[in-house]
Amino acid sequence: MSKKEIRFGLIGCGLMGKEFASAAARWCHLSHVDFQPVITAVCDANPEAAAWFEQAVPSVKRTYSDYKELLADPEVDAVYCAVPHNLHAEIYADIIRAGKHLLGEKPFGIDEQANAVIRKAIAEHPEVIVRCSSEFPFFPGALQLSKWVQEGRFGKIIEVEAGFWHSSDLDPQKPINWKRRIATNGEYGCMGDLGMHVLHLPMRFGWHPQNVRALLTKVVEERPDGKGGMSPCETWDNAILACEVKTEEQQFPMVLSTKRIAPGHSNTWFIKVQGTRLSAEFSTKNPKQLSSLPYEPGGSQAWHVTDVPYQSAYGTITGGIFEFGFSDSILQMWAAFCDEVANGKDGMAQPFRCATPEEASGSHRVFTAALESNRTGTTIPINWGS
Ligand SMILES: NC(=O)c1ccc[n+]([C@@H]2O[C@H](COP(=O)([O-])OP(=O)(O)OC[C@H]3O[C@@H](n4cnc5c(N)ncnc54)[C@H](O)[C@@H]3O)[C@@H](O)[C@H]2O)c1
Repeated sequence: MSKKEIRFGLIGCGLMGKEFASAAARWCHLSHVDFQPVITAVCDANPEAAAWFEQAVPSVKRTYSDYKELLADPEVDAVYCAVPHNLHAEIYADIIRAGKHLLGEKPFGIDEQANAVIRKAIAEHPEVIVRCSSEFPFFPGALQLSKWVQEGRFGKIIEVEAGFWHSSDLDPQKPINWKRRIATNGEYGCMGDLGMHVLHLPMRFGWHPQNVRALLTKVVEERPDGKGGMSPCETWDNAILACEVKTEEQQFPMVLSTKRIAPGHSNTWFIKVQGTRLSAEFSTKNPKQLSSLPYEPGGSQAWHVTDVPYQSAYGTITGGIFEFGFSDSILQMWAAFCDEVANGKDGMAQPFRCATPEEASGSHRVFTAALESNRTGTTIPINWGS
């Protein structure tokens, strides 16, 4: 099958930039897709970061240190941008205005004001496809849980809990990085860093929090600055948000948590939905397991734990008996984005789209209300009207 090539420019050659290069390099993993990303140009303010791509990615023809030069490159149709949060508004808006499709990293702006700048550019350029990176819902267990929600299988929802937990910041010797500074990561702290991952599915299901009571904590006060001294940690380490969801049919509590300091956890993304007819839980802690408890009135209440087969949104060469992992979820997310660019929203091979700018903006509303809640010690209503 000849594949439609989408020529990508990559801005931000760090941790996530390399993940994209790796996903593009193993595109043959996907079966029956009629599109393919080709990374033609990369840009990083730090030439050493870009040098890795010159060595490892043969399709890269040009390397830039100024992203505006990459945007002027005629061999770039679409851009993946993975830079610190303080740069999202300016760079994402410029990418969109240059007419390039964009998969941007979360949180889509350092704060609500920055997010509004990106939204304005999107409104002015409806021809450009813009999506927000969020890969975890592509785990097969999460996809199955999503399907059950869409099918209304849970009955009356009792409560929902979703979270994203890390533990590496428990080590006080871990040097400070841009995620611990307000100037680069934003006042949201762990919410801006991790929260879009947690809110992606609730937003997709239409579970908009009507209000939030937030408890935000700073655990480690200062860290080595890499120059022999110590530097203050300015951002929130952990956040627990107690929310109330009201939809046309349902009203239930939803607890969302983002933690940089959750002892014993590394990249644990989870969602738990309890309902009167079905309860289900998926966590990347046990990435091939999906727990479910179907219930008939008067019947027994027994959890079933299933090893979910490797059945991804896009078919792959991997047999169903094998395990799915982080880099597989990144590859699937990229397939969904490229499918939408190549075939349009209505022509996609499967229905689960990447997170939308509206979903990212929704997460900003929640985080902004959470900051106010923590500041005032009160429950803050969230207006979804406009
Ligand atoms: N989806 C995920 O699972 C996931 C995981 C980690 C980070 N992220 C997100 O990815 C983004 C980047 O995070 P990261 O961990 O890759 O960071 P990183 O620090 O590893 O990489 C960022 C890169 O951006 C470069 N950069 C800084 N300013 C620049 C500029 N003006 N022009 C071009 N390049 C510039 C830096 O030199 C660095 O190489 C953030 O938005 C973060 O929230 C997403």
